[in-house]
Amino acid sequence: MDFLKITDISKEKLHSILQLAAKLKEEHKSGKINFSLAGKTLALLMEKPSTRTLASFQIGMAQLGGQTTVLSSSVSQLSRGEPFSDTGAILGSYCDIIAARLHKHTDLEELANATSTPVINALTDLDHPCQALAALLTMKENGKLFPGAKFVFAGDCGFNVANALMGACALEGMDITLACPQECAVNKEYLKFAQSHSTVKISHDLLSAAKDADIIYTDTWVSMGQEEEKEKRMQLFLPFQVNSATMHAAKKDAIFMHDLPAYRGKEVTSDVIDGPQSTIYAEAENRLHVQKALMLHLLGKA
Ligand code: CP
Repeated sequence: MDFLKITDISKEKLHSILQLAAKLKEEHKSGKINFSLAGKTLALLMEKPSTRTLASFQIGMAQLGGQTTVLSSSVSQLSRGEPFSDTGAILGSYCDIIAARLHKHTDLEELANATSTPVINALTDLDHPCQALAALLTMKENGKLFPGAKFVFAGDCGFNVANALMGACALEGMDITLACPQECAVNKEYLKFAQSHSTVKISHDLLSAAKDADIIYTDTWVSMGQEEEKEKRMQLFLPFQVNSATMHAAKKDAIFMHDLPAYRGKEVTSDVIDGPQSTIYAEAENRLHVQKALMLHLLGKA
């Protein structure tokens, strides 16, 4: 079994992963050793930069007693045009599990189709399902994961993080509001999935969208690979900056979330991201625990 898209898993599987992640987190904090993946190897294939994903997969595997081989695309034969299918078949024959961060989701599918070894999406242009798992665990820890909770995504609602969160929040039956410019194309496949599991509203006015929100989430306006459009995107998304007025419109106990890296003064102001409602570091920390739980599930050790 692979984990390429958040919509690949059932609600039951999602809950089981979150439950195990919470248990692993508690055990880790109490100093309990868990070497359930001793003798197992993770291949981590990275076509894009990373701080959280790279560190949390490597450290998570080490905490479970396993090992990681990191392969950056620039030092691999991918940089000279070797097909993703050959890369997948070879890596799959060496290791027990693969996590790959690739530009194109179709390349990830090609890689995953070439091997029976489980493959995890560590971010593509379409989805970032590990981030969505960490976000859900963080919402749960803050009492915000319940059917009908109002989840507002502000800014670029047409890219990987928004897609993943739309799928994840829909599986939880949350009320989703996407606050974005008219020009922003929401992914039709994820929107259809979300609408079949919960309610989704699209708003072009952030302040009205944020009214009574339980969660306000945003992401960078310039994702990896979009650098050439930077100036245009800055102008386009400016009215969707999360600031104190946005948080004031939300519920008093609303939380602010961001997958990071964040650009203070752009998609979010410093007072919000560094303020008391922000959960950014908790969500980043939870990447470690959800990915450990995910690897245990995919390797039949849960
Ligand atoms: N949120 C996230 O995936 O962070 P990195 O790009 O640092 O891995």
